[in-house]
Amino acid sequence: MTAEAAEGDRTLPLSHGGPIPTLGFGVFRVPDGEEVRQAVRWAIEAGYRHIDTASAYGNEEGVGRAIRESGVPREEIFITTKLWNQDHGFDAALRAFDRSLERLGLEWVDLYLIHWPVEDLRGESWKALERIHEEGGARAIGVSNYMLPHLEGLLGDCRIPPAVNQIELHPFNFGTRRPLLDFCSASGIVIEAYSPLTKGQRLDDPVVSEVARSVGRTPAQVLIRFALEQGAVVLPKSSNRDRIVQNAQVFDFRLNDDHLRRLETLDEGLATAWDPTDVP
Ligand SMILES: NC(=O)c1ccc[n+]([C@@H]2O[C@H](COP(=O)([O-])OP(=O)(O)OC[C@H]3O[C@@H](n4cnc5c(N)ncnc54)[C@H](OP(=O)(O)O)[C@@H]3O)[C@@H](O)[C@H]2O)c1
Repeated sequence: MTAEAAEGDRTLPLSHGGPIPTLGFGVFRVPDGEEVRQAVRWAIEAGYRHIDTASAYGNEEGVGRAIRESGVPREEIFITTKLWNQDHGFDAALRAFDRSLERLGLEWVDLYLIHWPVEDLRGESWKALERIHEEGGARAIGVSNYMLPHLEGLLGDCRIPPAVNQIELHPFNFGTRRPLLDFCSASGIVIEAYSPLTKGQRLDDPVVSEVARSVGRTPAQVLIRFALEQGAVVLPKSSNRDRIVQNAQVFDFRLNDDHLRRLETLDEGLATAWDPTDVP
């Protein structure tokens, strides 16, 4: 497979809104203020055109500021933020969205997600997201941490289906997540892979290292490429300039079928933070 072929997967279409840049920059646990501004600045310099934040990350202000200061036209940067658990319900979600926009200093976001499938209230919250989309506040709307039953429930009771489902995804849970990935693919829902580097927990895995050696790349680049090879959007986080640059250099090589097969043997159902499987 050629480098030119890998170049081809820089964006994906969405069922509404979009297209979405397949490489996004994650800012979970990057403190607001100078630290997140610096990280987002470096990311934009390194070529990222997609930033993934959330109300719960507490850094929307710094993210918005870095974007405004970057000099890159607003339309060229894809920005996602998320509705936090305490803000569920129709009216509460509308108000939470307005507060996010205000903190970001933006007139619209490219993607607004339900962060977590909060029991009982998530259906009402989705209606608020539909309203937000129709009024132009969010060009696309979607969900995060939705497992099969959550998605089936939503698709059975919505006017606008979610454009994306953002879930934890890497070789260490890929097999476990396969039925969900197949369902999303059949339903036109794009998968976003969060914690693609396993929060650093499996970067020294021998199989990942072996594949990295065989393609002349780092383990982190292999894990990012793994998500792209699955047709997913991928959201690596780093606060370090060199690693931010390194993590963006993933469009000039590919993993072949043998590499992918070896990586797929690593499934252990790993959830590095929280696991929504049992949320009713
Ligand atoms: N929707 C959700 O519920 C949810 C949950 C979790 C995450 N997310 C999103 O997904 C993004 C990424 O996930 P994550 O932050 O959990 O973790 P991650 O991207 O899997 O891993 C980040 C960790 O890897 C390190 N790292 C980054 N690049 C590296 C490299 N090239 N070599 C070695 N180490 C490297 C980082 O350290 P340094 O910073 O020091 O480089 C950091 O400790 C988040 O920031 C967030 O936007 C969403």
